[in-house]
Amino acid sequence: MFFAIDTHKENGLAFNPLKAIVSPRPIGWISSISKDGIHNLAPYSFFNAVSETPAMVAFSSSPQSASDGTASHKDSVKNIEEVGDFVVNIVSAELLDAMNISSASVAHDVSEFDTAKLTPKPSHFVTSPHVAEAPCYLECKLWKILDLPASATGAHSKLVFGEILGIGIDDALITDAGKIDVTRFKPAARLGYKDYAIIDEVFELSRPD
Ligand SMILES: Cc1cc2nc3c(=O)[nH]c(=O)nc-3n(C[C@H](O)[C@H](O)[C@H](O)COP(=O)(O)O)c2cc1C
Repeated sequence: MFFAIDTHKENGLAFNPLKAIVSPRPIGWISSISKDGIHNLAPYSFFNAVSETPAMVAFSSSPQSASDGTASHKDSVKNIEEVGDFVVNIVSAELLDAMNISSASVAHDVSEFDTAKLTPKPSHFVTSPHVAEAPCYLECKLWKILDLPASATGAHSKLVFGEILGIGIDDALITDAGKIDVTRFKPAARLGYKDYAIIDEVFELSRPD
């Protein structure tokens, strides 16, 4: 089967398969703070590390449509535009439910740290707090926000790039060999539809000489 993008229904697929094809995707659990000091937390799976030198991440945020048909941008993006930094928190298997709760759409003055019963902890290099319960986190300074091309509705997503300034790791995850053992926290990954995967087994593969 082959089809042009956005013609999946005419080709017998009930749902757009894009996210199931590009999977698993890591989840960037983005914490930020508004200029008025309200904490915010939301998961983004159009997310990845995009460079090691310099160390950078990016995530994309889709527009939100209001009942009157107007589009606005999500709180994470508004805060990052205002304050200029954010933190990427990593979702362990045991934080999956809290991550899901934090994805609910709530008023700008409500903190998802409260709704998801998580602890906002001051960061080292940035104003945005991080999730105290997260196994690892990346403190990031905003580099650039790109407007992606507008869709048929005229609304567009925003691609947010951050430069990583500092890395937090739970010491209990570090092995005697000085590596992180991901099986000790079991990162969650997003697949398509409502599906997720948990990484609880890894193997090594050496590159050819
Ligand atoms: C696992 C998961 C991944 C998500 N990934 C994205 C994403 O990549 N882009 C996006 O715009 N929304 C994504 N969402 C939805 C946002 O988390 C949701 O719209 C949230 O309310 C945004 O919060 P904010 O307005 O506080 O930023 C995702 C939700 C879940 C549960």
